[in-house]
Amino acid sequence: MCGIVGCILKNNRKAAPILLDSISKLEYRGYDSIGIATIDNNKIFIKKDEGNIETVDNKLDLADMDGDYGIAHVRWATHGDPNKVNSHPHTSQDEKIAVVHNGIIENYVELKEQLENEGYEFKSDTDTEVIPQLISKYMSKGFDLESAVRETITMIEGAYAIAAICTDEKKIVATRKDSPLIVGLGKKGYFVASDSPAILKYAKDIIYPEKDELVILTENEIVIKDEYDNIIEKEIETIDWSPEMAEKEGYDYFMLKEINEQSTAVKNTLTGKKEIEKIVSKIKGNINRIIFVACGTSYHASLTGKYLIETLAGIPTEVILASEFKYSTKTLDDKTLVIFISQSGETADTLKALEAANKTSQTLAIVNVVGSSATRQANHVIYTQAGPEIGVAATKTYLSQLTSIYMFAAILSGNEYLFKDLNKIPKYIDEILEDTTEIELVSKKFKYADDFFFIGRGYAYPIALEGALKLKEITYIHGEGYAAGELKHGPLALIDQNIPVVVVAPPGDNNRKTMSNLEEVKSRGADVFAVGSFDDESLRSKSDDIFCINPDVDEILAPLVYIVPLQLLSYYVAIERKLDPDKPRNLAKCVTVE
Ligand code: M6R
Repeated sequence: MCGIVGCILKNNRKAAPILLDSISKLEYRGYDSIGIATIDNNKIFIKKDEGNIETVDNKLDLADMDGDYGIAHVRWATHGDPNKVNSHPHTSQDEKIAVVHNGIIENYVELKEQLENEGYEFKSDTDTEVIPQLISKYMSKGFDLESAVRETITMIEGAYAIAAICTDEKKIVATRKDSPLIVGLGKKGYFVASDSPAILKYAKDIIYPEKDELVILTENEIVIKDEYDNIIEKEIETIDWSPEMAEKEGYDYFMLKEINEQSTAVKNTLTGKKEIEKIVSKIKGNINRIIFVACGTSYHASLTGKYLIETLAGIPTEVILASEFKYSTKTLDDKTLVIFISQSGETADTLKALEAANKTSQTLAIVNVVGSSATRQANHVIYTQAGPEIGVAATKTYLSQLTSIYMFAAILSGNEYLFKDLNKIPKYIDEILEDTTEIELVSKKFKYADDFFFIGRGYAYPIALEGALKLKEITYIHGEGYAAGELKHGPLALIDQNIPVVVVAPPGDNNRKTMSNLEEVKSRGADVFAVGSFDDESLRSKSDDIFCINPDVDEILAPLVYIVPLQLLSYYVAIERKLDPDKPRNLAKCVTVE
């Protein structure tokens, strides 16, 4: 859960400014430290420190480093506190080798002990430092950088994307296992990076290396070798995301920009109908059970998927958290379709579950990032078309995942009529975004709350869960999503005038029962903020505040629309509390550790 970049440039261009620009596009992957290493005239230069990029850059002037090749890193600390010494790049004892790493080296304690016994001295508390030390050890035995990296990866266990440079050879050697790494071919030079936003400005032609393939970048060529050291030809894919898509474009924060891009994200995702039809034609008739597997927001999208598929297609459907999937594999068979939902396609828990499911069942991944690990491992892939999402809190990718799930359920069940409704979703979203004053006012009122409840029934239940997750993530207020009918079985004891309750009450069969649950919390003194239909007079009269949505959005469509005011509520409460919604503490966009 860090970001790495490496580049080697043509015509003696300075690498540091480009490394700084590129790594700043990966700040969503880690923001507790940053570091850059370049090499010039066989001398290594390193600038690194604790803090976000802006702070460290103001202090160290990171672009001001000589050398036309180098590596950079943003850190989300796992081993060792966020401080200067633990920041990457890490170097060998002789300071000739520098390495950046994303992942976790699980056997680093044993390796470190072994190296210390051999006389190597360590400076940091990180797991990563064993990598440059091992490379150095092999180079001292006569290996070149490439073979030393090859030897090193036979020693380390765990997850890694690594880029290494050394003072004696003008090249970057990179490799990966269970952590993402892409290679970019640009006019100015060659790149490696954890994710495409880092290099969109410089390279659109991308290669996706597989586990333990070695990537060797020199000024004039890119060589990729398989695990047996044979040079291999890899497919080059062109990404159609523009560099502007990964910029704030006038918005204060990526999260607000991405909330505002949701109608476009849904519209674009709807264009993928033909691809889904092809997949459905291959699996239809061969499955009698579906399991969704995901984490976080993607898990909430999956919960909606269960209701939808069971209602429309009548196929028994379960939802399992990816980290719990390995305990539920006993009854899997080849008639089970396991659907993996992941924005990044790189979430470690999800990838482990996918690996397990591939052994017995058919697998489908619904993913936003082209070429990510999940897309290469699953039997079938549906791409959501949200464009790059930089804010750590998932917003537009969530609505795109839901759109794909609705399309899949409609096609699988032959309920084509649903597309007529789906085509109207962008309009309903835009209606909400036209005027957000109401939500901004409510956010001012709620900024001092310590706890929140979000309640909903049926299709509104996952909306409540997702609303609560957004609030927790970016405002640090405790928010609990609950099935509206379950509150009276315990948590009602907590409700009083200090706990705001957000009631998600779209029009439909469940509305009346939700109203009874609203009365239950109201009579315990709760301050109720409702999200419901324009013409729901009863809801309006019983709530303290209400955000109204087009009455045509019934409960089945509600997940695609009703979440928007809740995302905005969290966003504005975060702003009121002077927090940066794009970079919540302790979190990173892509969780590449189990
Ligand atoms: O990339 P993924 O969709 O697999 O990520 C899963 C979760 O880590 C992610 O949804 C997380 O919960 C977000 N921060 C939610 O806003």
